[in-house]
Amino acid sequence: MQNISDINKIRETIEQQINEPDTSAALEELRVKLLGRKGEITLLLKSLGSLPPEERPVAGQQINELRILAESRIEEVRKKLGRKQVEEALKKEKIDVTLPGRSSSLGHLHPLTLVLQEMTELFIGMGFTVADGPEIETDYYNFEALNIPANHPVKDEQDTFYTEGGFVLRTQTSGVQVRVMEQASPPIRIIAPGSVYRSDDWDATHAPVFHQLEGLVVDEDVTMADLKGILTLFAQRILGEDIQVRFRPSFFPFTEPSAEMDVQCFACGGQEKDAPCYVCKGTGWVELLGCGMVHPKVLSNCNIDPNRYSGYAFGMGIDRIVMQRYGITDMRLLYENDMQFLTQF
Ligand code: DAH
Repeated sequence: MQNISDINKIRETIEQQINEPDTSAALEELRVKLLGRKGEITLLLKSLGSLPPEERPVAGQQINELRILAESRIEEVRKKLGRKQVEEALKKEKIDVTLPGRSSSLGHLHPLTLVLQEMTELFIGMGFTVADGPEIETDYYNFEALNIPANHPVKDEQDTFYTEGGFVLRTQTSGVQVRVMEQASPPIRIIAPGSVYRSDDWDATHAPVFHQLEGLVVDEDVTMADLKGILTLFAQRILGEDIQVRFRPSFFPFTEPSAEMDVQCFACGGQEKDAPCYVCKGTGWVELLGCGMVHPKVLSNCNIDPNRYSGYAFGMGIDRIVMQRYGITDMRLLYENDMQFLTQF
């Protein structure tokens, strides 16, 4: 138990020790030692009761003064430590406003989007409008209305992902042609870009999801010459004025006659006849798109009179065009989100 005669000793301790704590925690320790529930001054106050009554007022006053002294000295030191802390923080966290700022790196458009935007602008300039269709398509729009009946072998080539309820992830954007022709009457002049899906391999020239741009023109007196003209112009504008193109007869159930348009191989320029080029396999040409005159059956499927109107259509893989445009030799690069690759565009 503390004793009244300790008052002077405690006062001395306060004066000697008050400047020792150099952290708030150490100061708190000292406060508890003096003023805590079992602190020296608190115990002194408690021991007042054991003094003879006539001594209590004087002793009480002395202890009280001691308490006030301790509290005010502790408060002074607390303030001093606080100031010291702020000064240290200011020293440490000094900002050099003359340093150059850190610029945040902004993203940019994917090469697929860049080329698609350019193609879309070109076609809009030639009077086309942009049409859209669902990626989860019915068998009717993806195949049947395009003159591809249930057991047609072409369905094998375009094997795809079927969902429950008879829907299919569209294998081509050609279904948009039908949707547009059902709604509008000629003259029709649309392009329809979008994603398509096939259960294809994942290799340098194939991906299970890729992108197509479909085109459709229906009017009176539309001919194959219009088709060739517009597609040749397209290739020159997008791939370069000197690009060589060729049209090969082909087959599509929804066009008659049908053709495919090839462009000169970007990797070897048709030169690697002896050591076959991995892009054109030594043929010198790369297939770019399918096209043809809209089959009369497709027109009548959409209630357009094939005796009065004719039309041409084309469908191209945007990914292949991006590859051709930038000399990319592996399609997978377009899907792997490799920053080293993407930041080049
Ligand atoms: N849909 C065809 C494909 O994916 C491409 C195509 C060929 C589209 C001829 C057409 C066309 O519009 O007329 O292989």
